[in-house]
Amino acid sequence: MQQIAMLGGGFIGRFYAESLQGQRSRDKVVAIYARREETAQQFAADYGCTFQSTDMEAVIAHPDVTMVCIALPNNLHAPAVELCAKHKKNVVCTKPLGRTAAEALHMMQLVEEAGIFGGYLEDLCYSPKFLKALDTVKNGALGRILWAKSRETHPGPHSNWFWDKEQAGGGCMLDLGCHCVEIARNFIGKDIRPVEVMCWAATQVKPIDAEDHAIALVKYENGAIGQFEVSWTFRGGMDLRDEVMGTEGTIWINNFLRTGFEMFTTGKASDYVAEKAESNAGWLFPVGDEVNDLGYNHMFTDMFSACEAGREPAETFYDGYVVNAILDAAYKSAETKQWEPVQLPVWRGQEGVEQASNLVDYDADHYLIKEEMTHYGKKKLILKEKATGQIIEREVS
Ligand SMILES: NC(=O)c1ccc[n+]([C@@H]2O[C@H](COP(=O)([O-])OP(=O)(O)OC[C@H]3O[C@@H](n4cnc5c(N)ncnc54)[C@H](O)[C@@H]3O)[C@@H](O)[C@H]2O)c1
Repeated sequence: MQQIAMLGGGFIGRFYAESLQGQRSRDKVVAIYARREETAQQFAADYGCTFQSTDMEAVIAHPDVTMVCIALPNNLHAPAVELCAKHKKNVVCTKPLGRTAAEALHMMQLVEEAGIFGGYLEDLCYSPKFLKALDTVKNGALGRILWAKSRETHPGPHSNWFWDKEQAGGGCMLDLGCHCVEIARNFIGKDIRPVEVMCWAATQVKPIDAEDHAIALVKYENGAIGQFEVSWTFRGGMDLRDEVMGTEGTIWINNFLRTGFEMFTTGKASDYVAEKAESNAGWLFPVGDEVNDLGYNHMFTDMFSACEAGREPAETFYDGYVVNAILDAAYKSAETKQWEPVQLPVWRGQEGVEQASNLVDYDADHYLIKEEMTHYGKKKLILKEKATGQIIEREVS
């Protein structure tokens, strides 16, 4: 059982609390830190916390607290981790881990040096659909993974600090791209080094300094390519989709819009529909159980089970740091308009992985390019002659 201190009583702090205390959970949010007294009070009343304060250190250091959960604006993640290391409190931190890889690396090193547990709360790598898809990929059903694309777009975040480049550390690319990068890393293989990034980013709509729309490609050492599409200017709700392509198969996941639950209402008595839904009338796409479908339940189960078993969770501070490093390269590429290398002063994955061969033997003399069953009942083979390099076709009935 974990006795949790929630740092931040806003949007994600409340979602986390719903997950942590839902479904007869053993774990309990016992303390809340918020910037404003009234937020702390309301949160404590709603979730039955026994300690509340606007003093972050007092909440972290409280003797009942066994686990700190950071749900604060991005610029406060590092100061909160510093306090957890100082008071030797296990910690889980929301995404993005840092505003930059340097900040994330500092946080990772603090946790490792203090000998405390550190978990990276990347919920979209724990959604039931994602977990099933990852298992399928790891079992080899898709063969060698060639491309993993993740898209997160919505009409923009809900609090002022997100829109301030200094506090947030960036725009939609840091806010949403961190999810997408980690999703692709999981499918391609977390031990495969991300090598370089090409990115387009722009501020197309909002009057802000940061980008509100971005698209990027991330090249991996084994030849696979990751892709992300992120936006704070998308209209129509929250679009969360992943696509994975391998030599033997394909996966498409739609996590949020068009998941098979469609509803029409004139708006009478309608209220909250789903995160970032733009309307509560007309044709709507509700989500059955957001806390579960977005992965929060599976995420906290893994985090706390890992902590109690003395093992690492599936998403660690190290993962958060690698994600930040990829995004740092994406920001640089958006400026230079060049492929930019991913700088990883600490790398714990494989070294010098070579790209897999694209030559599939058909027989001793030929490579196979393609087999096709035609509409006129013949099977066609397209082959490459090993000796001459010539491409030929053969029909077999
Ligand atoms: N799916 C996800 O994993 C997910 C979703 C949303 C947000 N987040 C992350 O959670 C963190 C918090 O985001 P949020 O949406 O809960 O934000 P929010 O604005 O709704 O809440 C932030 C809370 O932090 C506290 N706070 C302390 N100092 C503050 C300050 N100086 N300015 C503003 N708030 C301050 C307040 O209690 C406030 O309610 C961010 O790092 C964000 O990226 C993660």
